[in-house]
Amino acid sequence: MKMSETAYSGKRITCDYLIVGSGLAGMTAALEAAKHGRVIIITKSKAEESNTRYAQGGIACVIGEGDSFEAHVQDTITAGAGLCHPEVVRAIVSAAPERVRDLQDCGLHFTLQKDVEENASGAQGNQYHLGQEGGHSTRRILHAGDITGREVSDVLLARCRENQNIIILENHLAVDLISTGHIEWQEENCCLGAYVIDTATHEIKTFLSKFTMLATGGAGKVYLCTCNPDIASGDGVAMAYRASAEIRNMEFYQFHPTILFHPKAKSFLISEAVRGEGAILKIKKGDHYETFMEKYHPLASLAPRDIVARAIDNELKRSGQPCAYLDIRDHSEEFLRKRFPNIFKECLKFGINMAEDLIPVVPAAHYCCGGVRTDVHGVTTIKRLYAIGEVGCTGLHGANRLASNSLLEAMVVAYNAVCHSVGQPATIPEISAHIIPDWSKGDAVDSDEQIVISHNWEEIRRLMWDYVGIVRTDKRLERAKNRIRMIRKEIEKYYWNFIITPDLIELRNLASVAEMIIDSAIARKESRGLHYNADYPPAPIESKGKDTVLRRPLKSEIWFE
Ligand code: SIN
Repeated sequence: MKMSETAYSGKRITCDYLIVGSGLAGMTAALEAAKHGRVIIITKSKAEESNTRYAQGGIACVIGEGDSFEAHVQDTITAGAGLCHPEVVRAIVSAAPERVRDLQDCGLHFTLQKDVEENASGAQGNQYHLGQEGGHSTRRILHAGDITGREVSDVLLARCRENQNIIILENHLAVDLISTGHIEWQEENCCLGAYVIDTATHEIKTFLSKFTMLATGGAGKVYLCTCNPDIASGDGVAMAYRASAEIRNMEFYQFHPTILFHPKAKSFLISEAVRGEGAILKIKKGDHYETFMEKYHPLASLAPRDIVARAIDNELKRSGQPCAYLDIRDHSEEFLRKRFPNIFKECLKFGINMAEDLIPVVPAAHYCCGGVRTDVHGVTTIKRLYAIGEVGCTGLHGANRLASNSLLEAMVVAYNAVCHSVGQPATIPEISAHIIPDWSKGDAVDSDEQIVISHNWEEIRRLMWDYVGIVRTDKRLERAKNRIRMIRKEIEKYYWNFIITPDLIELRNLASVAEMIIDSAIARKESRGLHYNADYPPAPIESKGKDTVLRRPLKSEIWFE
């Protein structure tokens, strides 16, 4: 019988695996880990809500004739602009078919040729329909219509919910990791679990686990314009940083070039797969529309994402126009409705018929290529702490992620992480309440100034958009640094004086991630991939770059300085 969730309603809770986040990485790890022990997934919202859910494009996987692992590796490395770790790229790309089969075993159906094309029949009709996206030298994207993320999330959630060894606790937000490094001087910093707030009751519980896996997704909310959901506040990276994990390459925030530009559309993504099917980017000039991408890259509208986002930004600034446009009117309405059922429907809601009208688009923050430094097994620099999915930085994406490599990385690294943990010596830390005390609010009192939270939240997102966006300069970064330093000080003071709330925890994390992006951007004295600083020329295409690494010293290290 499945252990009831009320069995986990106490204040001090133990498990074998504590997984923070319910997207593809978290649920893949949970299903694998459940073969070895008791798993708790905590998720700060509903279990359905995650970055995964909003992924449209699909999963890059070598499956078609005429494609090869080596070609996928090379495309990833080219997009990554000299910062990919080739051994990591090879390991992840070559594991794709096996992990894709796991997803199919869980019940996922990928789109077939016959689902999309009018005349696909017989054997040909039963082959996968492979999507094309920017930077890929061939069609290799497996997809489930244009809602791949939603389908993935639904099938995995169903499998997790029926698994006897997995408990999902919704409305539970991690406050901080519990690590030995900050409790007492230890030779090795080791993660023992996390303090977690129940967002309904605001009670803070102590979770103690053999292994802790961060699967918290991205941090798009750090920017004013983003296609990420509201939950994407960088909680995992911020917690790992506070626990002294190494954080890598935070300056590489990916902006998706084509978010629907409409006052009533809440940051709706127009998948790169639309350009893969032939959509062309245009800009309004007087009373007509002109193409422009051929001036920027030989692949024109299908160039890697960093180049397309920067080109649109440049065209908008030069022309004063509020948006660019996608033109896919060469296709029939029948094809577009079959290939992009959700995007077609969503555009129609706003009076845009993709078969007849141009689609207005702008770039917005989409994906964090940096994160908690890990290897291909999600192993961080803190013992028994893993980071999987967007929160981690394995070295796969380098300075610019290749489209549809993110779901791939999430499921490969999540699976690898559990395999790695199985051989590790670990016990559930039944450490006395004296050493790991339960959370105490100390002298903190209820705040009567909640306005501080909403004000700082907005200010951070605006300053990041204005000063640390698609095009940066030394001066803008310096301004951003001065401002974020003041905001962070104010938040820290507030954090320690007042009883903490979920909003305050997210704000503190967001500010911390903003500062990490700024610090990493300041440290990089070149333009490379997604980090474009107008004060430095772009690094030569063939040049190898160096990772940016941040680490907050442990208390004991500060003491000995
Ligand atoms: C998209 O569908 O354009 C997003 C795919 C991705 O970010 O990998």
